Amino acid sequence: MGVFTDGSHEQVVFCQDRASGLKAIIGIYSTALGPALGGTRFYPYASEEEALHDVLDLSRGMAYKNALAGLDLGGGKAVIWGDPDQIKSEQLLRAYGRFVQSLGGRYYTACDVGTYVQDMDVVARETKYVTGRSVEYGGAGDSSILTAWGVFQGMRAAAEHRWGTPSLKGKRVGVAGLGKVGKYLVAHLIEDGAEVVATDVSPKALEWAKATYPQVGLVADATTLITSDIDVYAPCALGGALNDDTVPALRAQIVAGAANNQLAHSGIEKLLVDRGILYAPDYLVNSGGVIQVADEIDGFNFDRAKLRATKIYDTTKRILELADTEGISPASAADRLAEQRMAEVGRLRTIRI
Ligand SMILES: NC(=O)c1ccc[n+]([C@@H]2O[C@H](COP(=O)([O-])OP(=O)(O)OC[C@H]3O[C@@H](n4cnc5c(N)ncnc54)[C@H](O)[C@@H]3O)[C@@H](O)[C@H]2O)c1
Repeated sequence: MGVFTDGSHEQVVFCQDRASGLKAIIGIYSTALGPALGGTRFYPYASEEEALHDVLDLSRGMAYKNALAGLDLGGGKAVIWGDPDQIKSEQLLRAYGRFVQSLGGRYYTACDVGTYVQDMDVVARETKYVTGRSVEYGGAGDSSILTAWGVFQGMRAAAEHRWGTPSLKGKRVGVAGLGKVGKYLVAHLIEDGAEVVATDVSPKALEWAKATYPQVGLVADATTLITSDIDVYAPCALGGALNDDTVPALRAQIVAGAANNQLAHSGIEKLLVDRGILYAPDYLVNSGGVIQVADEIDGFNFDRAKLRATKIYDTTKRILELADTEGISPASAADRLAEQRMAEVGRLRTIRI
């Protein structure tokens, strides 16, 4: 994928500061709805091409996610090429901040894989276009709180669509990944009266589950989880959870989870439809985190952000209904609504004020 051959991104900026070792690419897919917002991924890519590919993919994804979340924000993302454990430093982060500032507000950055709220506090010493900061600096703090809340809302909407009631009481929910989001999600599910079965590769996460929720059933791995007798599957670990092997084996009637890019490749959404499995699109139900950090731009208010994340319930219902009436997959329905909002609301800027 190249910037011009792909042809869809507004702007892609390569940033280099030799002294600090900074090599960053900022991708702006669309500013139709407002400044582009998306996190900074700090990762040791194998090549420049791989880094570029990732930033183009991720920034497009953010445009769709922000549009569907009802935010007045476009989609962007940045990658810093390198091993954060080896090269992350104050001067590198501040150099990066200066490049973000140089875009004059076309792009707001935040945390992603390899960057943390404390890093954003450092970046913020050079730019005002940064969110996802620490609570001490007026930031939203840990975004997994509202991510989990939003996933829970999406799951409730899917339950209502499938079973006529949003309650998960008595349903068996399989959670793969008891990380930052998975832990909060388990808490919501238990509170709602669901029976939870879970798995994680980390012994620490399993210890946490045993100590905090002894009633949670733990299974060896994700394969065991998906083939066990569950009603809902919540992938909360890595991408690609829904693939040619897992979808045919899946026993759940609903999939709703936090992981990004759950569909391993295009065509998987059709496989889910054919098997009668209701899929709540990942970028819709996991948008609570971006809703949380976006709220920081106007001065963070947790209750307001939570109210917005709660709307994921309504949007999920709307998308599942649209999918039914149009005879398309929920993934296509989500894309369609996101594109519609970008076109309709983005167009308003042509009215000169
Ligand atoms: N944190 C957020 O606000 C947020 C927002 C949107 C999307 N997401 C996505 O949600 C997912 C989870 O995010 P997180 O912040 O909880 O990450 P995390 O790193 O805290 O947790 C991931 C957990 O999954 C476990 N895991 C990894 N491989 C596994 C496997 N094969 N089987 C079972 N467990 C496995 C890890 O041990 C870890 O406990 C990611 O895909 C992330 O991109 C997170």
